[in-house]
Amino acid sequence: MSDRKEENAIPGLAAQYGDYFDIGAAVNRRTIKTQQQVLAAHFNSVTAENEMKFELLHPQEHLYTFEAADEIASFAKEHGMKLRGHTLVWHNQTPDWLFAGANGEPSANRETLLARMKAHIAAVVGRYKGQIYAWDVVNEAIEDKSGVWLRDSSYLRIIGEDYIAKAFEFAHEADPSALLFYNDYNECFPEKRDKIIRLVRSLLDQGVPIHGIGLQGHWNVHDPSLDDIRSAIERYAELGLKLQMTELDMSVFAFEDQRTDLREPTAEMLERQAERYEEVFRLFRQYKEVLTSVTFWGAADDYTWLDNFPVRGRKNWPFVLDEQHQPKPAFWKIASW
Ligand code: GLA
Repeated sequence: MSDRKEENAIPGLAAQYGDYFDIGAAVNRRTIKTQQQVLAAHFNSVTAENEMKFELLHPQEHLYTFEAADEIASFAKEHGMKLRGHTLVWHNQTPDWLFAGANGEPSANRETLLARMKAHIAAVVGRYKGQIYAWDVVNEAIEDKSGVWLRDSSYLRIIGEDYIAKAFEFAHEADPSALLFYNDYNECFPEKRDKIIRLVRSLLDQGVPIHGIGLQGHWNVHDPSLDDIRSAIERYAELGLKLQMTELDMSVFAFEDQRTDLREPTAEMLERQAERYEEVFRLFRQYKEVLTSVTFWGAADDYTWLDNFPVRGRKNWPFVLDEQHQPKPAFWKIASW
């Protein structure tokens, strides 16, 4: 078989899912070059992995640095891909100046922080208005620890609980047609799921413009269980909002697994991963009315944030395309059904 023929025989993932949902990938400045072909072949949506986060776009109060984000936006445009925005308000990757007092005081007050948030959101959402169709407005505001609802963060301490509602209002003002998402991880664990639902319900009750819930989906070959994933999708869907998988990956290691001896995934891992992808995509297809996009947190196994994290010196292989950008067993399970 010639190379060309072989290429043709591999169905494009986004094309396969044309009647279901978008298929997205997180990209960065480097991968839009190193993975250009595989991105064009399989994905119709992209999210900037880091380039649109606060600290990268707005390192000082009067300095915006849009070059890297613009490159990703141009890449999406050139390839006719949708663009998701990630992320406006998050406790991580946010510069210290945002929370500092105006006149050398240790901490900003509520009014100052709200004004800074509003200026940031207006500038960033305004810049990509008409191109970014959906924003992760608030990321990870819920606490993982049992019994505590909202995560302790500078936003919460300085502004109070309504920083979340305000963020959505500012984003809606900046681009009334953008779809606005609340995004979080461990989203299928029942207790955290219920805390997310409590938050979203309270936003809806107050008339806050929120249109969707982003399920990050940093999963592994064992967890969360399919039942927990199904219940989470059902419960979230009951809120009447759209759902998107925003950061899907399927680590081949269980959460507690610390092994660092592997140079490639074992056959058993690949098989288990293929089964997991098969079952979760089957579920996703069943919920196509509410699930509008499935974005992987990367594209192929040559680059993943899970390399060296959380275990140093360990590579991971969480995607359906391998290090050479070729289909893995998991790819075939989700590309044909
Ligand atoms: C969270 C964030 C992402 C990314 C991942 C790790 O899920 O939402 O932007 O930082 O952590 O890469």
